[in-house]
Amino acid sequence: MELFATCVPAVRHAEATAGEFVITPDTVLDTTALGPQNQVRIARLFRFLPFNLRPSGNANIIRFSMDAESLGPEAHRVVVTPERIDITAGSIDGCSLAVAVLRQLLPMDGYRRQPFSEVTWTVPAGVICDAPAVQWRGFLLDVARHFLPKRGVLRIIDLMADLRLNRLQLHLTDDQGWRIESDAFPELHRRGSHRRRTQISHFSGERVYDETPHGGYYTRADLREIVSYAKDRAIVVVPEIDLPGHTGALTAAYPELGVPAGALTEVIGDWGVNSALISPSPAAMEFLRVLFDEIVDVFDSPWIHVGGDESRLSVWERDADTMVLAKAAGVTDAQGLFATFMSDLDALLRAQGRTMITWDDAFASAPQADSKAVVMAWRGLDVARRAAQAGRHVVLSPVMPTYLDYYQAEDVREPMAIGGPVTLADVAAFDPLPADWSSEERERILGAQAQLWTEWIPTERNVDYALFPRLCAFAETVWTGAPVAADFSARLTHHLKRMDAYGVEYRPVDGPHPWQEGGTGTRAHRSSEPMAENLKRYEQAAAQGWIAFDEPASDARD
Ligand code: ACM
Repeated sequence: MELFATCVPAVRHAEATAGEFVITPDTVLDTTALGPQNQVRIARLFRFLPFNLRPSGNANIIRFSMDAESLGPEAHRVVVTPERIDITAGSIDGCSLAVAVLRQLLPMDGYRRQPFSEVTWTVPAGVICDAPAVQWRGFLLDVARHFLPKRGVLRIIDLMADLRLNRLQLHLTDDQGWRIESDAFPELHRRGSHRRRTQISHFSGERVYDETPHGGYYTRADLREIVSYAKDRAIVVVPEIDLPGHTGALTAAYPELGVPAGALTEVIGDWGVNSALISPSPAAMEFLRVLFDEIVDVFDSPWIHVGGDESRLSVWERDADTMVLAKAAGVTDAQGLFATFMSDLDALLRAQGRTMITWDDAFASAPQADSKAVVMAWRGLDVARRAAQAGRHVVLSPVMPTYLDYYQAEDVREPMAIGGPVTLADVAAFDPLPADWSSEERERILGAQAQLWTEWIPTERNVDYALFPRLCAFAETVWTGAPVAADFSARLTHHLKRMDAYGVEYRPVDGPHPWQEGGTGTRAHRSSEPMAENLKRYEQAAAQGWIAFDEPASDARD
């Protein structure tokens, strides 16, 4: 197979020419046109080669340059001849993306930590001109439900960079864990970062716990390292602090901020939507102001995600003290208080120079006309379209097919998952720029994002299994702005060998390895509510303006 035709995501414009370029220890990496800081960045990205490239010389050159006038920020042009490689990009991020493509054009050993035999580092001659279709090519990793140590996060960043994904949303806080060190509020990481036990049963059956502690958090230095490592690879790390619901760990650490005060005194290990809510009091808002000062100090992302999903507002409604606050805020019910709370957060983040992102629940229940907050639409495309019509920027993150925690086939061999299936074919058919939207509506789409919630994904092995190869298909849809190309499965076959070399425990396309199956014990496959009914329930709740699980007669699921 022609090497240009093995890239994942597909390279949109590629033309093979005669011959090849060979990278050797004599090859010169000429990045002088990029400026000193960027020079170091590009040199770091070439560390996958088992030798250093020379900093200067006149022949056998890989030369980088920038052309922001004629190329968009992520666009790049790679011209390979037997004599040299010329890479031109619209920005330093475009240069990083070009290195990701180059790595796929080299022998597979470029995916090993160290080659174990003589490798000739050939790049086929040709021309690539490429640019992504959308600017938000995201992946959400839930490190709150199960903590993934820093080394695992850095590895995910490598794997995202390979697929030219560019936004890593870290879901850092939830009912079951708080994962960020805080100088101002140390109980958050001391008390909020671990739990005594974890539910290992599905929500369809009786609750069973492992009775084993689980926890962990990232220091501020760890997070700075993660942000910097991602930046080299053209990835922005977007922190999510989920509010006002999903705050069990926060309110266990600081019980006086909960509603009612002291409702939770330890971090819980139960799945489902807990009723923990932070108070919308001035004291809580001041706490959040100081907390977000710390967050924006660590994360340079232009966007901060504040959740806004699945908040059981009835908890506020039933609390007399909270309803006194409602009156003081000039609103009559918890819904009004929620709108005030979200708009206060919006103002707080705007004062920090950041743009707020919320899940679509906040938009559907409290669609503030003047808000510029980005809407991340998980409950289907209808609510996403309404947000676009309201002039909001949207990131498409519909459960079907971007929730990669759902099981991958209707097959008893599949290990327990929250529900499903979301198959590789479902992801491959995703269109991040829906054809039936008007061009004005489509212009409001920043892009799309795949999600990995980790209630039933306890280890890195489970993460690999759930993510790959579905994330490969997702990455292609957002790179090209369309369902995957017809030759995707041939390219994927080749790409999975790269993943083998890298050491990724993906799910084989035709089903799990025997040791990846759920067996008959606690990880046994569960069939759950049919997907169509599940999706309909979400869509209807969004259409009614309900926050998920705050609707009448809601059940206790995620
Ligand atoms: C979500 O799944 N609660 C965004």
